[in-house]
Amino acid sequence: MGDSKFRPKFHFTPKSNWINDPNGLVWANDRYHLFYQHNPFGTKWGHMSWGHASSLDLVNWVEHPIAIPEDALNSEAIFSGSAVIDKKGSVGNIGAMVACYTACYSSPEGTRQVQKLAVSNDGGLTFEKLPEPIVDRNKADFRDPKIFEFKDEWRMVVAHSKEHEIEILRSSDLLNWESLSYFGAKEEDPEIVWECPDLFPVELEGEEHWVLLVSVNPGGPLNGSGTKYFVGSFDGTRFSSESDPIWLDFGRDNYAGVTYNNEPNAERILIAWMNSWGKTPHPELPWTGAMTIPRKLGLTRSFGEIRLTQEPVTKPNLRITLNEANAFEYQINSELTVRFDPETGIIAINGYKAQSEVARQLQLDLLVDNCSVEVFNLDRTISFSFLTFAD
Ligand code: FRU
Repeated sequence: MGDSKFRPKFHFTPKSNWINDPNGLVWANDRYHLFYQHNPFGTKWGHMSWGHASSLDLVNWVEHPIAIPEDALNSEAIFSGSAVIDKKGSVGNIGAMVACYTACYSSPEGTRQVQKLAVSNDGGLTFEKLPEPIVDRNKADFRDPKIFEFKDEWRMVVAHSKEHEIEILRSSDLLNWESLSYFGAKEEDPEIVWECPDLFPVELEGEEHWVLLVSVNPGGPLNGSGTKYFVGSFDGTRFSSESDPIWLDFGRDNYAGVTYNNEPNAERILIAWMNSWGKTPHPELPWTGAMTIPRKLGLTRSFGEIRLTQEPVTKPNLRITLNEANAFEYQINSELTVRFDPETGIIAINGYKAQSEVARQLQLDLLVDNCSVEVFNLDRTISFSFLTFAD
């Protein structure tokens, strides 16, 4: 198959075939590992397996063989999840990489989703699955476990997708899990599913705050798929939100974003899937979809609230500055136009909107690649991500 002028220069795409969510983001053996939802056999969703790539710098990626293939014999698809380093050797060798994924079983009787472990003793190249689930609630929509270290123990957040609840669990050995609490929104529209949670601390002015990410589909910006976040506190048992949910990204193509475990510089780095469920026109190419640029997360104050900030790991290649209070319009390419209203501070890209705190002035930093545009405002509280196949 020939390649294409749309092949990204500095964003991850697989050589061929479909990808969706980033999975198992973990730093190990001097490398950032990126596993991802992957169909090894085609450019549409299906045969879900964990693909694998790794990078020294989060920009140049080397693609490796499939890390965890679907088990067609047992109708087990490998859905999203996370990875940790087993420092105590509870599951594998000391220092083994342990993946926790949702095993999705489909049969004429219905669907069942359970959380399972797989161990890698070769740095993430191959995994051996543990036969029994570690968490099973006898449900069809229960998925996307994120395990993280908490003090000397482990915590997991996992989504009860249709109930719009995130369950928090604890373990000291990765094998036995005790349920601690639920965080939810009972009033959510029944059409919407909650997926891909993540929970992590971020400092602001010397104080620790906890951020909960939840991806929702639909119900995102312009009713597509999108990720929201809550800022609050976590006492080891319960997450309490101190804010209304805010969009992580205001564009069309940013979903299922999660952060790295074991990051060596104590940074909090997020990668999201740059595509959407159903809203993005995508030509037939050797591959389908891409990952966003990795972003370092921080916190700041904006509109009297605590907001997440996202700093891309590469320098933006286009900057737009506007010093006067004039309405402004700029055509990025034949598909995308950015508009700014200095009266309200609203930045809009093709109907996707976000309000910036500083009205009057504007600075936008753009990361423009061959099939994507990511836009960041000056204080980095706003980002827009778009996959775009245009000249
Ligand atoms: C999110 C998602 C996850 C699931 C995976 C399946 O995009 O629906 O909830 O694990 O994709 O590919």
